[in-house]
Amino acid sequence: MPIIRDPHLFNEQSLFVDLEGVLGCRLFLKIEGFNFAGSIKLKPAREMVERAEREGLISPGSILVESSSGNLGVALSMIAASKGYRFVCVIDPRCNQPTQQLMESLGAQVDLVTEPDPVDGFLGARLNHVRDLCASDERYIWLNQYTNPGNWGAHYRWTAPEISNQFPDLDVLFVGAGTTGTLMGCARYFREHRPDVRIVAVDAAGSVSFGGQPAPRLIPGLGMSVRPPQLDEALIDDVVMVEELDTVRACHRLAAAGFTLGGSTGTVVHGAASWLTQHDAQDLTAVAISPDMGRPYLDTVYNPDWVHDHFGAEVLATPDDLAGAPGRRSDPVSEPQHPSREAVAGYAATAALGNFVQ
Ligand SMILES: Cc1ncc(COP(=O)(O)O)c(C=O)c1O
Repeated sequence: MPIIRDPHLFNEQSLFVDLEGVLGCRLFLKIEGFNFAGSIKLKPAREMVERAEREGLISPGSILVESSSGNLGVALSMIAASKGYRFVCVIDPRCNQPTQQLMESLGAQVDLVTEPDPVDGFLGARLNHVRDLCASDERYIWLNQYTNPGNWGAHYRWTAPEISNQFPDLDVLFVGAGTTGTLMGCARYFREHRPDVRIVAVDAAGSVSFGGQPAPRLIPGLGMSVRPPQLDEALIDDVVMVEELDTVRACHRLAAAGFTLGGSTGTVVHGAASWLTQHDAQDLTAVAISPDMGRPYLDTVYNPDWVHDHFGAEVLATPDDLAGAPGRRSDPVSEPQHPSREAVAGYAATAALGNFVQ
């Protein structure tokens, strides 16, 4: 029976979902959303704050500041509240409204940048705002997840061993790439401890991290509009790029099976299923990482109007598709299963009533 006094001291470490029945290919999904911050970003938040404390960087008047697409901001808001620190989170319009409200409920100040930097996009605009704050007052402490070794260090310390311990026969690990903290921490751990494990990065189309052309992206978490400073491509075996349309389809397919997971989980699951299908990998043991749960995405990925407006009517299947004809499930890439517009609406209403797992 875990009994805690600090919210960051609880984190579900060993929950994996077997997706074979949903996707038709062998894939285990590591669930990172069951903690009080609701995401994998609890780990880097905790590691970066604890390192800053150990290094004497935080004093009583300090104000922590960070740029975040949302989840790190929530985790830092929670830790700051628990430890009695002030915290400013710099976000952009892609941050979900409930996520912003959650940060504010935890006592954080949320600064929203509304205009992208002409060259470096919204991320550039967020970083400029953080730099301006730090230049204006020396009490600001920028943890800087983009360069802080505590970001990847958290996944080297926790995430990778949690996977390695549960899967002694692991062949391939799929990791989404945002700041690349999760990717680099896992890649370094497996290179050092189990070099036979293949590390496959999954990124959103329109991200420049692996050299692609920049394009607008709607779903937060994965992808960068500037190259991630922590990324070392020498540690990665392969990269899969995923269109947001396929991200949404994968999320709907998982939800149709009862697993309501975040947008980036759809990206990683679609990328993993594509890679496994292309590599004829039925005998491989494969794990993918799910960074968060679906509830913060009810207004976007799970909102039929939002999906319709951004991706068109064809993404929203008929009720027949929801029932799932036998055989469809065996083709994870080209014919994903997803709920009808009505089914998504019904699902959202159920979640709003609180009948929800997270
Ligand atoms: C939902 C979600 N998925 C994926 C990521 C990417 O993780 P990382 O920054 O470790 O690459 C993030 C990071 O904020 C996230 O919030």
